Amino acid sequence: MTSYKKKLIEVALPLEAINKASAREKAIRHGHPSTLHLWWARRPLAAARAVIFAQMVDDPSAHPDIFKTEKAQEKERQRLFKIIEDLVQWENTTNEEVLQRARDEIWQSWRATCAENADHPHAKELFDRHKLPAFHDPFAGGGALPLEAQRLGLESYASDLNPVAVLICKAMIEIPPKFAGKSPVNPESRKKIGSQAGWKGAQGLAEDVRYYGKWMRDEAEKRIGHLYPKVEVTAEKVKDRPDLKPYVGKKLTVIACLWARTVKSPNPAFAQVDVPLASTFMLPQKQAGRRMSSRLSSAVSIASL
Ligand SMILES: C[S@@+](CC[C@H](N)C(=O)[O-])C[C@H]1O[C@@H](n2cnc3c(N)ncnc32)[C@H](O)[C@@H]1O
Repeated sequence: MTSYKKKLIEVALPLEAINKASAREKAIRHGHPSTLHLWWARRPLAAARAVIFAQMVDDPSAHPDIFKTEKAQEKERQRLFKIIEDLVQWENTTNEEVLQRARDEIWQSWRATCAENADHPHAKELFDRHKLPAFHDPFAGGGALPLEAQRLGLESYASDLNPVAVLICKAMIEIPPKFAGKSPVNPESRKKIGSQAGWKGAQGLAEDVRYYGKWMRDEAEKRIGHLYPKVEVTAEKVKDRPDLKPYVGKKLTVIACLWARTVKSPNPAFAQVDVPLASTFMLPQKQAGRRMSSRLSSAVSIASL
């Protein structure tokens, strides 16, 4: 029979700190997976990190031999809370010292679990004190949970019904570890670094993604850029859009296209005119957004499908 110890998550969590860090994450615009690709119902990394940690670590009440009184158990719980409070801070996402403290706690609880279950008939495969249990999220979506499990040192697996979610997870969880510590291969970086080592984590891969991403963008512009002409701001246009006055004579890059189906105008006088089937050209509805969409519309062109 498996011997089971109560986990921290079953007893208590520092919810205030977790909630605060999770809410703050929404404003992070650089380095967050949400900037890689939008995913609906994406969980905050802070919450994911905290719940995985609290599921892996024993609650002190599970060890009355070590923490004999309720007071001692509460003191130990507060120590674990402090680890979570540090762990959930966005700034600590790659703080090795903070992460290692959390990993050490996970390992300690895991070794205690293995010792407890040494007599289990499948102890060798299920309770190997040198190998943490793997983590699998079968509904991984944007990958917050498997990413954080990996960060906490677990072998992480993700799957999802939706191929876009699978692609996000591959880009985030599967591919980067394969290139961990490797130097970039693009010719520019190679010229600079020669055979110099010292690339940490996915830095080398990131350098290559930047280089080849730019190459692809430049190639795309060369080959199909003519299909997306710049918009010239004329004095005529400024009559309707006085905010564009500073740009008269300039050619602006189109940054967004609204696609709409078109029909020939039902008005016989304009029978040859294509009319877009769109009820509004507003992008967002909120006041602040509306202002932005009118600015954007200077660069929005209508194309028919
Ligand atoms: C709430 S989202 C998961 C969000 C994820 N935890 C994150 O942080 O991004 C639920 C996911 O379950 C997936 N899903 C729904 N039904 C599924 C099924 N039968 N098999 C596999 N995945 C499924 C959806 O595609 C969706 O990505």
